Amino acid sequence: MGKSESQMDITEMNAPKPKKGRWSGLEVGLAVVAALLAIVAVTMIVLYATYDDGVCKTADCIKSAARILENMDPSAQPCGDFYQFACGGWLRRNVIPETSSRYSNFDILRDELEVVLKDVLDTPSTKDIPAVQKAKTLYRSCINETAIDSRGGGPLISLLPNVSDWPVASTDWEASYGTAWTAEAAIAQLNSRYGKKVLINFFVGTDDKNSTAYIIHIDQPGLGLPSRDYYECTGAYKEACSAYVDFMISVAKLILQERNISVNEDEISQQMNTVMDLEKEIANATTKSEDRNDPLLLYNKMTLAQLQNNFSLEINNK
Ligand SMILES: *[C@@H]1O[C@H](CO)[C@@H](O)[C@H](O)[C@H]1NC(C)=O
Ligand SMILES: *[C@@H]1O[C@H](CO)[C@@H](O)[C@H](O)[C@H]1NC(C)=O
Ligand SMILES: *[C@@H]1O[C@H](CO)[C@@H](O)[C@H](O)[C@H]1NC(C)=O
Ligand SMILES: *[C@@H]1O[C@H](CO)[C@@H](O)[C@H](O)[C@H]1NC(C)=O
Ligand SMILES: *[C@@H]1O[C@H](CO)[C@@H](O)[C@H](O)[C@H]1NC(C)=O
Ligand SMILES: *[C@@H]1O[C@H](CO)[C@@H](O)[C@H](O)[C@H]1NC(C)=O
Repeated sequence: MGKSESQMDITEMNAPKPKKGRWSGLEVGLAVVAALLAIVAVTMIVLYATYDDGVCKTADCIKSAARILENMDPSAQPCGDFYQFACGGWLRRNVIPETSSRYSNFDILRDELEVVLKDVLDTPSTKDIPAVQKAKTLYRSCINETAIDSRGGGPLISLLPNVSDWPVASTDWEASYGTAWTAEAAIAQLNSRYGKKVLINFFVGTDDKNSTAYIIHIDQPGLGLPSRDYYECTGAYKEACSAYVDFMISVAKLILQERNISVNEDEISQQMNTVMDLEKEIANATTKSEDRNDPLLLYNKMTLAQLQNNFSLEINNK
């Protein structure tokens, strides 16, 4: 049989020891190989970490991608029911809130933004730029109900003379304002000073065909009720129409009371219904939103001279 253990020990102990501090050729070779492998490994790691395959991997991108996946239903066959495939996940996880007529990612985004915005506007800071200071002042003025209540109708009543007042809520309007009133001045005043776009929507914005140029845009106005359809005042819109007229009547009564002018309910009601009839005609004159989808049809650029020659801004020759 082989050597005994003790023999082996002796043999090993007697073997010539390598000189300390000196590496054999094999060791040097192995060390070089190990070093090269280490360099290759590090390079691979760095390359892997910085490799750009054109796919966005920021936290926001990953969140967006996850949201899209969540809103899909991969168990549906896209060729059979594409809607279920694309939106099934959304339908499973969301119900339209009672207070809304629709619910989408944009509504969620808006709700989330409002929370952020409230926090921003609530937080005073001395470092704010003037625009932000103004926004905060406006916000504070809107939520200070004590101050709002104590001022009552005062601010509105002091503003009314600036906009030719309101015939239904004043006495002797014809003599006080009617003779001097012109549509052009009234519309210009409401638009430029009070940001209220009546009869004409008028603003400065980029030229749709040249984004470096700013031009005056003229468009149909928004309406008192949310959309043109409401003015049919039938079916689902019936209640909205009568509530709208009632609202006008209430505001007129409040102003008259605050001005200590006697209130004639029948007369107010009759006048406000006339206003409603006019609004219906204005709504009927606007283009339906479904007919406004072609931006080329809405683009009719002209010079101010052409505008003035083609259109007049007079009501009852005023
Ligand atoms: C509300 O307005 C009143 C009167 O202007 C003011 O004294 C008070 O400080 C305001 N409150 C808040 C919370 O801003
Ligand atoms: C009304 O107009 C006058 C003069 O143009 C102006 O000084 C005043 O601030 C206006 N009032 C309101 C509430 O806008
Ligand atoms: C776009 O508008 C700018 C500024 O008014 C003007 O200098 C430029 O010539 C316009 N470009 C075209 C293609 O009309
Ligand atoms: C209305 O009457 C009340 C009490 O008689 C009075 O305090 C108030 O100043 C009057 N308002 C106007 C606008 O005349
Ligand atoms: C709406 O306008 C059209 C013409 O554009 C007119 O024929 C129709 O009678 C109007 N309808 C109402 C309710 O005013
Ligand atoms: C009316 O507008 C059209 C289209 O812009 C224009 O060709 C025409 O010259 C204008 N008419 C007048 C009298 O300016």
